[in-house]
Amino acid sequence: MESPLTGSESRWLHVTKSPIPVRNVQDLVASSDELTAETMERYIRQDIDRDVVLAGHSAEIPVIDLAKLLNPDSVAAELAKLRFACEDWGFFQVINHGLPNEVIAAAKHDIEDFFRLPLDAKNDHAQRPGEIQGYGQAFVVSDDQKLDWADMLSLFSQPPQHRDMSYWPKQPHTFRNSIGEYSSELLKFSRYIETFIAKTLNVDYELMGGNCAVQTLRMTYYPPCMSMPNKVLGFSPHSDGSFITILLEVNSVQGLQIRKHDVWVPVKPHPEALLVNVGDLLEIMTNGKYKSVEHRVTINAHKERLSMSAFHLPKFEAIISPIPDIIEGKVLYKTVRVEEYAKLYLSNKLDGKKALDFAKISPT
Ligand code: OGA
Ligand code: NI
Repeated sequence: MESPLTGSESRWLHVTKSPIPVRNVQDLVASSDELTAETMERYIRQDIDRDVVLAGHSAEIPVIDLAKLLNPDSVAAELAKLRFACEDWGFFQVINHGLPNEVIAAAKHDIEDFFRLPLDAKNDHAQRPGEIQGYGQAFVVSDDQKLDWADMLSLFSQPPQHRDMSYWPKQPHTFRNSIGEYSSELLKFSRYIETFIAKTLNVDYELMGGNCAVQTLRMTYYPPCMSMPNKVLGFSPHSDGSFITILLEVNSVQGLQIRKHDVWVPVKPHPEALLVNVGDLLEIMTNGKYKSVEHRVTINAHKERLSMSAFHLPKFEAIISPIPDIIEGKVLYKTVRVEEYAKLYLSNKLDGKKALDFAKISPT
């Protein structure tokens, strides 16, 4: 049973600064006369085509089999793989995740249909001032920062009683149902993953993800960029402000890259897997043993890309800190309120792992 809610989750809806509204990118791409050098200037990043990208290494991202974790004969070996994945990669793919195929297929289908709607219909669910849910963009805080080549729909999805249905599309008419189902199936899956992550650390689940009752969804549409795909980014480099994030590749077009030893490693979508990554809050709780890894999204010249990320985190009034049993050596992170961290994270532009500096104890 879910513990009774105090209602503070609804404070999520209001952050200190709301993002500055910017041009819809899908519509910009469709209006070719607007694609002038001046417009493109807001998106072009001069230096990124010099970044080192390691193609060919994506196959190495560890694959974890949930069925093996649930089988007493294979759990020990699979836990060792999971521990290695969390320590060394911060990212892993999970097969046999238990989500019914039809639930995933319906969610993918409805996300694609939503983004295909005319702009006006999508804007029925546009972000309102002071709020971060809805259709629009996030993390835009100044008029001169570089913009991401993407539009998104953000929804607060769990606990269900805190959903703001005005942001949940009515079209396609199956959307609310399919995304609601996906959300609750995914919540069950996230509990398994949190339990097994706790086991890799030999700590009590209740001390770790045991209180991850909050889930938010972000569906992102990355339009193609024919003129200069190598000069724009769909998502600026960042780590996630969550405990864990679970990504669903909606249409199997490549784009996600993760940073490993200062080079970018492309992630090849595994059609059968969900992709899980360590978020900042898990890094804090493990005192840096498991690191939230920086990642970004690149853009394709001809193909659109769609994805849905699900961020799982403790209730907003929760207080987190490095778990004493895990600490080896110095305590590196402060005690933070989840709400405080979420607000800080959402009120700034994305800048690698900079948000996490707020929680770091500076060396004396
Ligand atoms: C995110 C994210 C990656 C993607 O939503 O935080 O990193 O592939 N998304 O869309
Ligand atoms: Ni991310």
